[in-house]
Amino acid sequence: MPRIFSGIQPSGELHIGNYLGAVQNWVALQEQYESFFCIVDYHAITAPYAPDELRRRTREMATSLLASGLDPAKCAVFVQSRVPEHTELAWIFNTITPLGELERQVAFKEKAARQAQVMAGLLNYPVLQAADILLYLADSVPVGEDQVQHLELSRVIARNWNSRFAPEGEPYFPEPHPKLTPTRRIAGLDGQAKMSKSLGNTIGLLESSDEIWAKLRPAVTDPARVRKTDAGNPDNCPVVFGLHKAFSPAATVTEVDTNCRSAGWGCVDCKKVLLESMNAELAPVRARAQVLAEQPSLVDAALDAGVEKARAVAHGTIEHVRDRMGLA
Ligand code: TYM
Repeated sequence: MPRIFSGIQPSGELHIGNYLGAVQNWVALQEQYESFFCIVDYHAITAPYAPDELRRRTREMATSLLASGLDPAKCAVFVQSRVPEHTELAWIFNTITPLGELERQVAFKEKAARQAQVMAGLLNYPVLQAADILLYLADSVPVGEDQVQHLELSRVIARNWNSRFAPEGEPYFPEPHPKLTPTRRIAGLDGQAKMSKSLGNTIGLLESSDEIWAKLRPAVTDPARVRKTDAGNPDNCPVVFGLHKAFSPAATVTEVDTNCRSAGWGCVDCKKVLLESMNAELAPVRARAQVLAEQPSLVDAALDAGVEKARAVAHGTIEHVRDRMGLA
């Protein structure tokens, strides 16, 4: 079976941008691939954080991933810091990564601009990400669009290592490629940017129907629709129409399109239909999360099984790398 790897930071709750851009795809792909899904706590500590909160959020992330449908019998769900080979390979990769490649990463420049003092870990973040993926020799990485530049760098690192340490014509590390979905970029509720934990414009995967409605009701729509009787254009409504395309059946999306253009429905009517579609998808996820919260041993067992599968592969890769590089 071909192998995939992907990761998610436990720096906040799992939101529907993560779910639609990545996690929903992971649930489908675990059927066809040998799959490794990692909660990347070493990445999360590159931003300011509180230790107890990180521990709690790592746990909550595991619960949300399992509730979303990741099945520990079919894939490995594990926490990055329990597999020390991730940081070992990251150090090794630091020695073959040109500084200029790191300095031009857009995610680095954006995050660095928001911090008073920039730590080296933030700059080296994508090196650890390359180590995550290549440790499992994964050539396919299901992610949202914002991760594409990081994956380009993973390919540079794989090529650099292969050209220095693998025999001519026999590359060891594959060059990993992103596996995107049609919902590769979910807009935030403010309509200004992508949905993101750090921008506070999210809907949490486990939020109740009432909580979701409190956020949907004031969400921006087509600015041309001032009154209910004004005709609208769904293409100018990236937040609400975007979520309809992600959550509603195709027939409902067509109905939304027609009724928006003819002013048959007002924006509140349209949002009520969206809430129904979201509840149809998310109510079973909320119910599974409730079961897991009541039986924490299920989460422990899943994470233990995941780490065991991960270490078995990681160990073999590191042994090979050490041998080729002349490390003792
Ligand atoms: P993170 O934790 O920010 O996001 C996890 C996944 O969710 C996707 N995503 C989105 N997709 C569509 N629309 C959005 N608004 C949206 N917001 C987030 C992300 O693209 C991602 O797939 N650096 C990574 C974590 C990581 C990783 C890895 C990923 C560490 N090592 C190795 C893949 C492979 C990150 O911060 O994702």
